[in-house]
Amino acid sequence: MKGIVLSGGSGTRLYPMTRAANKQLLPVYNKPMVYYPLTTLMLAGCREILLVVNPADEESYRRLFGDGKQWGLEIRYAVQPKPGGIAEVFLVGRDFVAKDRVGLILGDNLFYGDSLPAVAERGAMGSGAMIYAYWVSDPSAYGVVEFDAAGQPISIVEKPKEPKSNWAVTGLYFYDADVCDVAAHIPRSARGELEISDVNAHYLKQGRLTVEKLGRGYAWLDTGTPSSLLRAAQFVETVEDRQGLQIGSPEEVAWRKGYIDDAGMEKLIQPIRDSEYGKYLQRLLARG
Ligand code: G1P
Repeated sequence: MKGIVLSGGSGTRLYPMTRAANKQLLPVYNKPMVYYPLTTLMLAGCREILLVVNPADEESYRRLFGDGKQWGLEIRYAVQPKPGGIAEVFLVGRDFVAKDRVGLILGDNLFYGDSLPAVAERGAMGSGAMIYAYWVSDPSAYGVVEFDAAGQPISIVEKPKEPKSNWAVTGLYFYDADVCDVAAHIPRSARGELEISDVNAHYLKQGRLTVEKLGRGYAWLDTGTPSSLLRAAQFVETVEDRQGLQIGSPEEVAWRKGYIDDAGMEKLIQPIRDSEYGKYLQRLLARG
């Protein structure tokens, strides 16, 4: 399965934190932000990953992830020359997608929940387009889905002034290979962007869109402002400290899914033995 992580953008709402560092490289508690969405894609079964990044950040991402082999992945890079909307990933990633179904996750989206792997796998295995909706208090900041009485989606509107529901579209999407053509034919929005909501509305019109609701047992967290970033970090710290289990560790997910074996894990631990993170991975190995 293929997956794309969009890690571009200018992160203006987090300025000056984002003056010299790309937003998705900032820490959420103890890991770079992008680790969380990357592991969500891994849990969905994606092993071929395309990172879409700003030109100035490609080197940093290569330093962070390399070719992905250390985690049993195949990671490639594509540059988005300037931020032009989420759907642009399907223009710069057209060769990567080729004729395959593909997952897309936004590099600043943090998902948490017990059944997340199963939910994401359903998107990966499905047909047409599959997106996820989450009940929020401030839907007008997001794409918003309206459902009919039977629970079927009837409209998707990007950042509506008067939202038709509280169901926000999250930053995790799965599409069939048609998505590249769909993205190539939608017009740019008033803000000059290729909107992912227009791609989703296109699939909806064709009757090829499934919207799965993520219920109250999930967390879908925002990292777009200084306080939401801090809250996300506190959430991760709270859960990790209570359980002694980490959220968003690519090494752990790779090892649990059998992408790497004990020896592969040992090799990753070696250079970071003395860090908290290295000690955590050692404990996992010791427990078996
Ligand atoms: C984007 C999408 C929006 C979606 C949101 C999820 O908005 O355009 O539909 O609900 O991501 O994070 P952005 O926050 O990039 O403006």
